[in-house]
Amino acid sequence: MHGEGDFEGSLGRGVSGSIPPAFGVVYGASESLSEAIFGGGSEAGVRVGGTDTNEVVVTRRGLFVTGTDTNVGKTVVSAALFHRYRSEVSLCYWKPVQTGIEQDDDTATVRALGECTDGEIFDQGVRLPRPVSPHLAARWAGRRITVAALLALWESAPVSVRWIVEGAGGVLVPLNEGELMVDLMRALHLPALIVARSTLGTINHTLLTVEALRYRAIPIAGVVMVGPPNPENRRAIEEYGGVPVLGEMPWFEPLTPEGLRTWAQAGLDPDGRLREGWA
Ligand SMILES: Nc1ncnc2c1ncn2[C@@H]1O[C@H](COP(=O)(O)OP(=O)(O)OP(=O)(O)O)[C@@H](O)[C@H]1O
Ligand SMILES: [Mg+2]
Repeated sequence: MHGEGDFEGSLGRGVSGSIPPAFGVVYGASESLSEAIFGGGSEAGVRVGGTDTNEVVVTRRGLFVTGTDTNVGKTVVSAALFHRYRSEVSLCYWKPVQTGIEQDDDTATVRALGECTDGEIFDQGVRLPRPVSPHLAARWAGRRITVAALLALWESAPVSVRWIVEGAGGVLVPLNEGELMVDLMRALHLPALIVARSTLGTINHTLLTVEALRYRAIPIAGVVMVGPPNPENRRAIEEYGGVPVLGEMPWFEPLTPEGLRTWAQAGLDPDGRLREGWA
């Protein structure tokens, strides 16, 4: 048995110990989801509530872009968010863990597709060769990824922007022998935006992701579906998952910053659900 406030990883300590009991107050009645994402005032940092020991954590605003799988479109959606919202709020992108850096550099992709300035990119983090799961890429490189080290890195990042943090793979991807990507999400205190495919299989994958996030009390801002529009899959995700679908991103051929911008400005969160409350 360990202390109720422990932030142990999701593995190896048993299920009950993996959920910090104080988490229920993080985005409680006094703070709406939109305030958690974009803030309600000039101050971007937010006090997210006390723990058992009355410790108060100052964190940052934004979104954690996760997905139902690797290669599902998280990076492209992250770039689209710049086109959609940069005219209203200062945004900054962070990829904490990148594997397969020889061929996949999501930071460079977002910079190009999102037409980002240097100030819109926080180019720090774990960068590993080999396009495999983070825990394995780290082991093969003789390194160890930890949530604590990533948090320490983020301490040096600006607080006065709204963050677009991109995961690697999906929510239960291992970082090390005891911590998962979802443990990093929890530690960053950012609501999740789930990127999902639009095609067959997505209902199950998306609902599993929703369930894993809810189980850990991580707020869900919504889902963006990628691929040919599929109204029945959209409806099923919204109804069974109880989450809003904030956009259906088509498959671009070719994929260009211009095409992405045109779609994002018209089709990504058209009702402004993500930004309500930031004024
Ligand atoms: N809407 C789209 N139109 C055209 N190509 C797309 C689209 N969305 C994604 N792609 C392509 O699909 C591939 C995977 O997309 P992306 O890199 O965004 O996935 P990811 O979820 O970020 O993957 P990872 O887990 O590696 O970070 C890329 O080659 C990307 O260019
Ligand atoms: Mg990516």
